[in-house]
Amino acid sequence: MPSPAPQPQASRRTHRPTPSGAERSFDPEEIIVSKTDVRGVITYANDVFLRVSAYDEADLVGKPHNVVRHPSMPRVVFALLWERIQAGSEVFAYVLNLAADGAHYWVFAHITPTFDAHGTIIGHHSNRRWVPPETRRQVATLYATLLAAERAAGGTHAAVAAGQRALDAYLVDAGVSYDDLVWSLVGDDVAH
Ligand SMILES: Cc1cc2nc3c(=O)[nH]c(=O)nc-3n(C[C@H](O)[C@H](O)[C@H](O)COP(=O)(O)O)c2cc1C
Repeated sequence: MPSPAPQPQASRRTHRPTPSGAERSFDPEEIIVSKTDVRGVITYANDVFLRVSAYDEADLVGKPHNVVRHPSMPRVVFALLWERIQAGSEVFAYVLNLAADGAHYWVFAHITPTFDAHGTIIGHHSNRRWVPPETRRQVATLYATLLAAERAAGGTHAAVAAGQRALDAYLVDAGVSYDDLVWSLVGDDVAH
């Protein structure tokens, strides 16, 4: 008898989860870690990432990092993130992510490029910390404004430009740089 064809692993997911509205948190001492190649394809996910995102390792490794992208995230944040790391700089950003079961979770991400001995970027690394509730509220309010500007603008390119204008307007109004804003919101639990 021919042996049965191998069954696809039940854990391998192909569809995008629908946001359930449930919020997931993790401990302030924990760090969600992932590494990617230069294009943002995940090459490593730590146990905290697997637990909080509710994905198996096989669901994440080899997938583009937008696998955990939440539809409420403004595009401009990712545009800024990629602009910074492709220029060889680090970047800090608040990110709302979507878990496999539809729950969402906020992270304060520190993303850095990884260089080889010749100074060429060979990948990226992200360490993510817990976000205090008050920070979550403030960032969610700002991101809702940016997302509304992007949605009103239509297509991807126009949306990023509109998000950028909305972010710039916010920063000019507040009289701060992007980095100043990020650190002003961080909260005592994370800053120390
Ligand atoms: C190291 C690294 C970590 C990233 N982490 C996340 C993340 O946690 N959540 C997320 O939505 N995007 C993350 N991104 C950005 C994604 O690659 C992608 O730009 C973003 O999800 C927007 O996807 P889209 O362009 O398909 O809309 C990360 C990128 C890198 C390089």
